[in-house]
Amino acid sequence: MKPLFTAFLALGVACATGLARSQAAPPSAPPAQQQAAAAPGASIEAKVAMCVGCHNIRGYQASFPEVHKVPMIAGQSAKYITAALNAYKNGDRKHPTMRGIAMSLTEQDVATIAAYYEALPRNEVKPLGDKPSREPNAQVAGLLQKAACASCHGANFSKPIDPSYPKISGQHADYLFVALKAYKTESNPAVGRNNGVMGAIAKQFSNAELKALSNYMASLESELRVHPEPRFR
Ligand code: HEC
Ligand code: HEC
Repeated sequence: MKPLFTAFLALGVACATGLARSQAAPPSAPPAQQQAAAAPGASIEAKVAMCVGCHNIRGYQASFPEVHKVPMIAGQSAKYITAALNAYKNGDRKHPTMRGIAMSLTEQDVATIAAYYEALPRNEVKPLGDKPSREPNAQVAGLLQKAACASCHGANFSKPIDPSYPKISGQHADYLFVALKAYKTESNPAVGRNNGVMGAIAKQFSNAELKALSNYMASLESELRVHPEPRFR
């Protein structure tokens, strides 16, 4: 019994690290890892162990289904993190790796992890002003106006009108572009986001326009952070 238990533990750790290192992890997380994540009473370090290998490494790139930087989640509100994780769980967001991970989390795990990431950058960010830190060029100003982005994401794109909406200012440009394109993508099993609000908005724009919007948003000051774990520094 004892050697078996040890082997099980080792497998769990191997899976967790393996998953964290390989961006193209399979859609469903291995059961050993799922149990490790859901272990009741586990410390917050144990709960986020599965996340830090991607979300807490500066510049970490995902390579599947597209190459882009992994989004910063430290500093998003707990309500948005919860909403996003639930969208991966129920399939509204199709990203296979994040689906596998979200489905392995209990409701309690989601609540604990979301609160943790909301609070993480507390001492690192100064509150942003009410205006974006840079003015857009004329083209981008027109695009922003066309879909009234600020009416939901806030005048500085970092104070959304509802805490379940994301902060987008200063997020990685390549990720913003991938996310915006995903709202336009339908009937692809591995790519796409089914969201009534952002779907209708993203479909009004060409990919070149979405890229211009993404580059502008990413160039702004941000309340979002990558929070490196000591062991990944
Ligand atoms: C293998 C790398 C990897 C791991 C491990 C990982 N993520 Fe992710 N995560 C990603 C990628 C890539 C995306 C972007 C997915 C997409 O395009 O929708 C993402 C997206 C997210 C989002 C949505 C961000 C946004 O701005 O909408 C949240 C929230 C999130 N992850 C939370 C977590 C949590 C919590 C964990 C640990 C339980 C975790 N992730 C583990 C790679 C990872
Ligand atoms: C009516 C409100 C509303 C408007 C207007 C709006 N958004 Fe959004 N946006 C949302 C909501 C709600 C979400 C979260 C959707 C989800 O859960 O996937 C979102 C998500 C996003 C995301 C994904 C962020 C992430 O971290 O994954 C980006 C990027 C984005 N919006 C950019 C824009 C841009 C650019 C505009 C203007 C062209 C815009 N939004 C206009 C409500 C809005």
